[in-house]
Amino acid sequence: MTVVVLGSINLDLVVEVPHLPTRGETVIGNRFFSAGGGKGANQAVAVANLGIPVHLIGQVGDDVFGKTLVDNLQSAEVNTDGITINPHTYSGIASIVVDQQGDNTIACAAGANNLVREEELKYFQSLLPQTKVVLLELGIPLVTVIAAAKKAQAAGCLTILDPAPVKSNLPEELYRSVDIITPNEVEASQLVGFTVDGITTARQAASFLHQMGAKNVIITLGSQGAFCSSSDQDFWIKPIPIEVIDTVAAGDSFNGGLATALALGKSLKDAVRWGVVAGTLAVTKKGAQSSLPSKESFLQLLTQQSIDS
Ligand code: RIB
Repeated sequence: MTVVVLGSINLDLVVEVPHLPTRGETVIGNRFFSAGGGKGANQAVAVANLGIPVHLIGQVGDDVFGKTLVDNLQSAEVNTDGITINPHTYSGIASIVVDQQGDNTIACAAGANNLVREEELKYFQSLLPQTKVVLLELGIPLVTVIAAAKKAQAAGCLTILDPAPVKSNLPEELYRSVDIITPNEVEASQLVGFTVDGITTARQAASFLHQMGAKNVIITLGSQGAFCSSSDQDFWIKPIPIEVIDTVAAGDSFNGGLATALALGKSLKDAVRWGVVAGTLAVTKKGAQSSLPSKESFLQLLTQQSIDS
């Protein structure tokens, strides 16, 4: 029941500010911290925290950040044998600004993430025979993601694509090669070309994405929960009311919870519930990997939700 994540690894440089800066504005922040991030790395840690064996494949630079990032991943019990330390570039960096409501903006310098290609795909392929679920995202080259999705499909793995950082005009071959696509509202809006801001528009967006070739569409709606549309069912998982501290990595936590549940053989509906519980807990703490729930806190909220619903 192994999960394999092929994706980005970043060092996050986080500044907390009273409000997000607008174009041309400088805002003085009141706190700074750095922490492990990158969507692929966050997803891998989310899965490891929930107790499932997980491999992360990617690249970091041969700099002080790269070594620290790999050490942190190993401490989180992520298998890092597939991470290359590239002496010719720098580690991925994300510059993150978080406001008092927990909302954020992120700008990334991809660095080594941009060089994830043939070598990583070879290693990826070697793991597929013992892999149940593959997690992909777009912080690495699109050509690599498409090749990986095709290989995973040919090997009979269940593949989840988090289309973030979002790119418009994703090719239909990518939609067709994955089993589940998991945009948030902003990403869904960009993929379909109209605003997605609730259940009605999520349903319309899912229908558009099905026409592009997507089999199962899960649109995360922040404070409105998550909407799922598959060939035989549509359902909405209600949000869990909680105080939001910081939304960074909420989507990664959602994908980690979803992948873990599917690796354990849960139904799609239960897996989306697991994703919502994992995503909800991630907004209650600051940072990316530092905000991902422990197995204990996850099971506690999951159990509470089953009792309440
Ligand atoms: O999804 C959150 C992540 O996006 C951050 O950790 C940052 O590194 C960016 O890739």
